[in-house]
Amino acid sequence: MASRSPSPEFSPLSIGEYFTPVPTYKVASTTAVDFSGLLETPLKLHEDLKTGCGGQLWPAGMVLAQQMLRYHRGSLKDARILELGAGGGLVGLAVAMGCPVDHSIYITDQENMFELMSKNIALNGLESRVKELVLNWGEPLPAEVLRDKPNVILAADCVYFEPAFPLLLSTLADLLDLCKEAVVYFCFKKRRRADMHFMKNANKRFIVEEIEDEDKETFSREGLFLYTFKRKP
Ligand SMILES: C[S@@+](CC[C@H](N)C(=O)[O-])C[C@H]1O[C@@H](n2cnc3c(N)ncnc32)[C@H](O)[C@@H]1O
Repeated sequence: MASRSPSPEFSPLSIGEYFTPVPTYKVASTTAVDFSGLLETPLKLHEDLKTGCGGQLWPAGMVLAQQMLRYHRGSLKDARILELGAGGGLVGLAVAMGCPVDHSIYITDQENMFELMSKNIALNGLESRVKELVLNWGEPLPAEVLRDKPNVILAADCVYFEPAFPLLLSTLADLLDLCKEAVVYFCFKKRRRADMHFMKNANKRFIVEEIEDEDKETFSREGLFLYTFKRKP
């Protein structure tokens, strides 16, 4: 006779499992994003979490891309742009699609995200304007970066893992030393109290200013904040 499966043990943990859904991995797919009409041709973005958390769209990336398209479209023509922790390349690719920029844009991340960045560049036919690059925070800057001295740095949702905070701060400092007039556009999502340690240290090292956006009231309710970082004199 088939036996009935045993009832779950009565413990807070086993109850938790029944009431809290186990996180499921999103199936790999391609999305089209036009940032509320800011892009005439929507950006195609393949999302795949198999190689890391950067393989999906993050809210801070959406907010930063929208800010760049809405307020900086006309001022990036001569900019040398580099994105840190680009994941699939959301922000850098949106800028490449929507803003006239003369120089190549670098989208950078760790080795495991390289293939996804390449795939998304190709999906949008941006091979001649966007280059993928491995840039590990806390390590020496790649030769291409040292040569081109980026003056616009994009970083969205890069504050989420405490051990990486000093590494990210050190790369930001290296970039701001490399090009003294560079501006970092930084979109930060506060998830835990520890995330504020990052901002506290950023305030000590850089000139940090919150920037305006017509959606600020809405996204700040979600714990999202937009800043610029500049080098302290
Ligand atoms: C939460 S995702 C954000 C992705 C993208 N910026 C967005 O907003 O959609 C954070 C990204 O930071 C990258 N990252 C984490 N630690 C890193 C490190 N030490 N060096 C370089 N990139 C790192 C991850 O690989 C990941 O792609």
